[in-house]
Amino acid sequence: MNAGIVGIGRYLPEKILRNADLEKMMDTSDEWIRTRTGIQERRIASDEVDTSDMAYEASLKALKDAGLTAEDLDLIIVATVTPDYPFPSVACMIQEKLGAKKAAAFDLSAACAGFMYGMITAQQFIEGGVYKHVLVVGVEKLSKIVNWEDRNTAVLFGDGAGAVVMGPVGEEHGILAFELGADGTGAKHLYQDEYIFMNGREVFKFAVRQMGESSINVLEKAGLSKEDVDFLIPHQANIRIMEAARQRLELPEEKMSKTVHLYGNTSAASIPISIVEELENGKIKEDDVIVMVGFGGGLTWGAIAMRWGK
Ligand code: UT7
Repeated sequence: MNAGIVGIGRYLPEKILRNADLEKMMDTSDEWIRTRTGIQERRIASDEVDTSDMAYEASLKALKDAGLTAEDLDLIIVATVTPDYPFPSVACMIQEKLGAKKAAAFDLSAACAGFMYGMITAQQFIEGGVYKHVLVVGVEKLSKIVNWEDRNTAVLFGDGAGAVVMGPVGEEHGILAFELGADGTGAKHLYQDEYIFMNGREVFKFAVRQMGESSINVLEKAGLSKEDVDFLIPHQANIRIMEAARQRLELPEEKMSKTVHLYGNTSAASIPISIVEELENGKIKEDDVIVMVGFGGGLTWGAIAMRWGK
């Protein structure tokens, strides 16, 4: 038995912040943002909507999609660097809101690689036979930690949530292989004190190298080759980084998920948000081999090779 995704949902705030809006707020241009990052617009949550509200909405949809109720959940893992409070965790807040009475709950901090860390943690509990259904949420309200006077970072990020219910699936489906990693020596390149600080060039170099390497590594571990890949879902930080990963896997453009132009970098939420987008677009189909790969502050990274389906 493998662990796989048995239900999925997302929440995106309604308010759209376009590059043209940012031009009025700081010294930047639509042209610079589009050519350097691929981003055209991003979603921004209103003051009344915090991280746990977005996580809750996405989780409700994932449970419905799985045909399960909150009481079926054994564990809730929320990957976020923008929790409502240092504690209680967002996971505990949504445990209460969902009514997931028997679920254990915790948040994990692995920045933009958080969703990969969350899924792989859930996999261990499920494949170890300890838990059956684990809710994994990637959610961020980055707009509350962005310095709106720093054009180096303010143009990049967006808010949103994606959630999956993971559970046992057949041997041929679900997670086939994974890789997780961290390099704390790079912590200084991307961190939050009051606001997000980023050494863009350093993170860029790391990301290009790591996204390619981790994608290749998970394929090898799964006993698959580049030709077996049906779809690549990279963390949506910057189209130039994503393109480098795609080229390393020698995939045609239509085999890579691209949502960065619509939602910007939503950190831990970007991969599940993209999966929902591609399911809606009909680009992910039953039995497809999918590679997901993320990187982020820490520095952290993670990749999964999976076969879609229950
Ligand atoms: O999820 C993980 C989080 N982080 C990332 O994935 C980010 C990784 N890094 C990147 O995506 C890129 O490094 C950036 C998009 C952040 C920057 O692109 P770049 O090609 O590395 O640009 P740069 O940092 O080399 O800056 C080029 C120029 C600089 O001007 P000077 O020093 O050459 O005069 C910047 O001041 O662009 C300037 N610049 C801007 N200009 C207009 C920086 N931000 C902006 C802006 N608008 N928003």
